Amino acid sequence: MITLNGLQFQEYISEATLLKAIDEVAAQINSDFKGKEPVFLVVLNGAYKFATELLSRFEGDCEIEFIKMSSYDGTSSTGQVQTHIPLEADLEEREVVIIEDIVDSGNTIEKITQMMVQSGVNKYRIASLFYKPEAYTKEYKIHYVGLEIPNDFIVGYGLDYNGLGRNLNAIYKLKTTKMTNLVLFGPPGAGKGTQASFLKEKYNLVHISTGDVFRYNIKNATELGTLAKSYIDKGQLVPDSVTIDMLSATVDETPDANGFIFDGFPRTTAQAEALDKLLTEKGTEVSAMIALEVDDEILVKRLLERGKTSGRKDDADETVIRNRIKVYYDETAILKGYYQKQDKYFGVDGVGEINEITTRLSSVIDKL
Ligand code: IMP
Ligand code: MG
Repeated sequence: MITLNGLQFQEYISEATLLKAIDEVAAQINSDFKGKEPVFLVVLNGAYKFATELLSRFEGDCEIEFIKMSSYDGTSSTGQVQTHIPLEADLEEREVVIIEDIVDSGNTIEKITQMMVQSGVNKYRIASLFYKPEAYTKEYKIHYVGLEIPNDFIVGYGLDYNGLGRNLNAIYKLKTTKMTNLVLFGPPGAGKGTQASFLKEKYNLVHISTGDVFRYNIKNATELGTLAKSYIDKGQLVPDSVTIDMLSATVDETPDANGFIFDGFPRTTAQAEALDKLLTEKGTEVSAMIALEVDDEILVKRLLERGKTSGRKDDADETVIRNRIKVYYDETAILKGYYQKQDKYFGVDGVGEINEITTRLSSVIDKL
């Protein structure tokens, strides 16, 4: 797996497969242009690598010319084809083979076809290493195709994602293995920590507890930790942007994770939106908000029990406990609405044996 401009790509077509496809295109061109002295017109930038391999297999004499065009921004077509280096060579009455990296919508091919007609060529042929039939909207024949591929965004072997990846010797595709990103909720005493640790093991997820992230950053006096502390010391709330930056840095530490369990975040709609934005930038999304549901009276009983043994002050006083539970429901209500609108809210019965509850949570996760 590789990361380009923050997006993850996995190998999709090996170099050996590409070279075999190029061998076949070269064989056809060698037979069609035997003794013809064609002009190969390479469409930069993407086709440079294909052209190098293809032309090293051409057996006759030929000329090589270049034009430079672009029609892509990021991972999608702009619909506009721009010419950066125009055609300079005189192609009148010549036999021309256009060398393209990939034919997608066909907009580029359309523009080049018009260029051929205007130049008064005797004959032209189009050779493209890749062709996406599902994306193609034109009628022009693509005479030589290395490989037909589905309508997925690819990089490598000349093709780029925002400028990067052209030098790769294989083809990579956006990583599609779906991540499981859970926002885990549960009132105090619901057993959220226990369940998070089981789910983390079972699904190979990274547990991100906002409390832990804060403590870690402050303790290690990271730039963000120091910034957060400056607000805390003044008795102010840490701005969402600081918290999000810390979470983002934590997410970046494990780019290969199957997903994350967010615990203690988001707390507000603004934070939920910020989390969505953060995950979108990383090519993924929140899969579900899962809330453990436990009756208030059971919680109060559990926490008072815990208070007796743990010595935690906030577990000893019933009024404090009830207030913590109330705060939880006030916060959760807003987020429940936010995720319900996206069909991502799941309430899970949190009363029972620990392994029973894990099974209930798993049956939700397995269907995501
Ligand atoms: P078209 O004009 O839509 O056919 O697109 C052709 C150009 O878009 C190619 O020459 C590439 O520069 C770019 N392109 C299309 N699909 C991809 C892709 O999957 N990865 C990288 N670039 C692409
Ligand atoms: Mg191109």
